[in-house]
Amino acid sequence: MTSTAPHLREDLLTPRFYTTEIEKAAKTDLRVQGAVFEAMLNEMEADYNRHHFDRKVPLDRLRGLNCEEKDAYESYLVRSCVSEFSGFLLFKELSRQLQKAGRLDLSRLFNLMARDEARHAGFLNRALVAEGIEIDLPALSVKRPVTWFPLSWVLYSVYLSEKIGYWRYILIDRHLKAHPENAFAPLFDFFEPWCQDENRHGDIFNMLLRCWPGLRQGLRGRLLSRIFLWSVFLTHSLTVCERGNFYKLLGMDPSGFDEEVMRNTNRTARRAFPVVFDLEGRAYFELRDQLVEVFRAIKSSAEEPASPARLLKSLGLKARFAGLLLRQFSQPMVPSSGAIA
Ligand SMILES: [Fe+2]
Ligand SMILES: [Fe+2]
Repeated sequence: MTSTAPHLREDLLTPRFYTTEIEKAAKTDLRVQGAVFEAMLNEMEADYNRHHFDRKVPLDRLRGLNCEEKDAYESYLVRSCVSEFSGFLLFKELSRQLQKAGRLDLSRLFNLMARDEARHAGFLNRALVAEGIEIDLPALSVKRPVTWFPLSWVLYSVYLSEKIGYWRYILIDRHLKAHPENAFAPLFDFFEPWCQDENRHGDIFNMLLRCWPGLRQGLRGRLLSRIFLWSVFLTHSLTVCERGNFYKLLGMDPSGFDEEVMRNTNRTARRAFPVVFDLEGRAYFELRDQLVEVFRAIKSSAEEPASPARLLKSLGLKARFAGLLLRQFSQPMVPSSGAIA
């Protein structure tokens, strides 16, 4: 198996590879964030996790899994590995292009973030090899399409994916520390310092966002916050609920985990975005439950034999899904005022 990855179907939930407006990125004015930039760069240079991702430690599973469980674990590894690798590619490319543009300061910072993501992807890749699966990551990067995003979208979406990544790793870690009998692979023992890398990357993106004050102001700031919080949460909910077996294998309730990740990420985002969703009540999550239910129904109706009745049913389900998306997207937001320094 060299050019494609098992368990990686091409759909909207598949991790993507990105690129952005390099020329604009090269104009980032770090002066407003000078002291923070220096502090972040020093922290990245200090490389606290230098010895954490031990290349020799065995990553073989500790216990046997049935076919379905093995599938759930491997699918989690493949998706995580591809998404870490996607971060590596973006940061590496930004570092290379920024160096060409003479922005050695920013280039260095992105190179250090690429270093971390390469370690993360490499570690997950080793866990996959222990499962007998080999993914040719460089070949995958050539084969998969690269999506172009404006710089503002990259800043908002990467900030969120780093912070959601942080919460995902730390919440799994906390759960497994409380229920060690469910930690069926040594990989999970590495999550705590690992999540600190993601947290630092998120802080770096927060700093970069602050170098572009216009991006967080007025209607534009409110709209970007809404779009990215909503789309990142939606992707998370559909992915976690669709691949719920992996979380059950860890003894977790997938929808409870999804909710906890969203609540924490939303709260953290108050430090970077001008507004965040109001997740105090149940409304957002009730819509999430309905979306997941209709999403499942759409998928199962696609497997039924083609007929006019199936077509009608599928159109009805899609219209319902669209209506729910719109309602969830329009949920109330609250200003983060106090939290933004
Ligand atoms: Fe990572
Ligand atoms: Fe990261």
